[in-house]
Amino acid sequence: MLTLVPEAIEKYAAEQTTALPAHMRRVVADTYANMKDPEMLSGVIEGTLLQFLIWASGARRVLEIGTFTGFSAQMMAAALPPDGKVITCELDPKTAEVARKNIAKGPHAGKIEVKVGPALQTIATLKPHFDLVFIDADKEGYPDYYEAALGLVSPKGIIAVDNVLWSGNVLKPKDKISRAIAAFNSRVSRDPRVVHVMLTVRDGVMLIRRRDA
Ligand SMILES: C[S@@+](CC[C@H](N)C(=O)[O-])C[C@H]1O[C@@H](n2cnc3c(N)ncnc32)[C@H](O)[C@@H]1O
Repeated sequence: MLTLVPEAIEKYAAEQTTALPAHMRRVVADTYANMKDPEMLSGVIEGTLLQFLIWASGARRVLEIGTFTGFSAQMMAAALPPDGKVITCELDPKTAEVARKNIAKGPHAGKIEVKVGPALQTIATLKPHFDLVFIDADKEGYPDYYEAALGLVSPKGIIAVDNVLWSGNVLKPKDKISRAIAAFNSRVSRDPRVVHVMLTVRDGVMLIRRRDA
């Protein structure tokens, strides 16, 4: 379990969060049974937080960078209106296939499009605006995803970035990924174009919006 708080507290918080529907519980169980690095799946607390952002902002179009098994894509789709859309980007064709199968078994398949390939290539084909951009792919790509997201997000839109605390390793970054995330966080903090807040939810979630909105 990826958590910055003691595991017992994370477990309690998850239990005190709206329960996942059966099809989402199956996605979690199958991911933990069959996938490498299953803890990449964001989980009920972060997924429900994303749903609140969508609900409160009235978002209709969502871009996700990093699909994995389709958990967060389905969580976000569930909070969208019937004509809402999630475009989700996955590099690995086999993982994308797993996500597509999971999504097809759920009730929101019509709202979700999985695009396979390097996210930057996919993003280059997309037109503004997205009301929420969720960045959750390779950490060294974050600066590029951030710049792309700033160009695509609607004036009142939100960019949410996952794993910004990287299990706390950003405090004394020793490896390549920790250094990349710490550098990304500093870059956002120095960026006069945005207002942002770092939440200590799960592995750290940064919420960002344009200052000029
Ligand atoms: C942390 S997981 C995403 C978890 C998912 N958002 C969830 O909460 O269930 C990151 C995913 O990003 C994918 N990925 C890595 N590099 C990528 C890239 N350059 N373009 C698109 N996807 C990428 C990985 O294959 C992996 O499936």
